[in-house]
Amino acid sequence: MNRLFSFLAIAIASFSLSACGQNSNEMKTLVAYFSATGTTEAVAKDLAEVTGATLYEIKPEVKYTDADLDWRDKTSRSSVEMQDPGSRPAFVKDLKDADSYDVIFIGFPVWWYTAPTIINSFIEEYGFDGKTVIFFATSGGSSLDKANADFKAAYPEIKWIAGKTLNNAAKEDIKSWADGLL
Ligand SMILES: Cc1cc2nc3c(=O)[nH]c(=O)nc-3n(C[C@H](O)[C@H](O)[C@H](O)COP(=O)(O)O)c2cc1C
Repeated sequence: MNRLFSFLAIAIASFSLSACGQNSNEMKTLVAYFSATGTTEAVAKDLAEVTGATLYEIKPEVKYTDADLDWRDKTSRSSVEMQDPGSRPAFVKDLKDADSYDVIFIGFPVWWYTAPTIINSFIEEYGFDGKTVIFFATSGGSSLDKANADFKAAYPEIKWIAGKTLNNAAKEDIKSWADGLL
């Protein structure tokens, strides 16, 4: 009988330990995105849903108007910002507990072959050093090669996972991409 009790005690103890271990290993995931015209937002929402992540919009303090987004106009706001690698457009800094996330997805529209500089504003505000950051985007066809190189050069302390363009991606495709990463 005593032996049975000790067996049960050990079994219960190891079960509780492994249950605790599982909880502490659970990843906390954030999907942060900037979207000027809604395309990236739709993909970000699907991604947050299929990964069970917290969804966070990077909102510019001053919204981009259609005129601001005119890439053919060299004097438009987006053209001026993208020509100046040091530009850091202001955003509403209301992300809570940024340090608590283990994995951070960052989504954006490709602008001039790379990420809009408001993404730099976001990364520099919260740091994410030592964290795993996976980026994704929508674009008119450009790849993320330049964004990948730019991020790695600018923020070498972040563990970057090369991103993916999710143009017109179906929710199942987004899920299988994310499942392969997490
Ligand atoms: C200022 C500006 C620059 C852009 N530059 C590129 C580009 O270099 N390559 C590309 O494929 N698409 C480019 N696009 C198209 C956007 O990446 C594409 O429309 C995106 O899906 C928009 O996402 P959103 O609706 O979330 O803002 C650009 C769009 C804008 C407004």
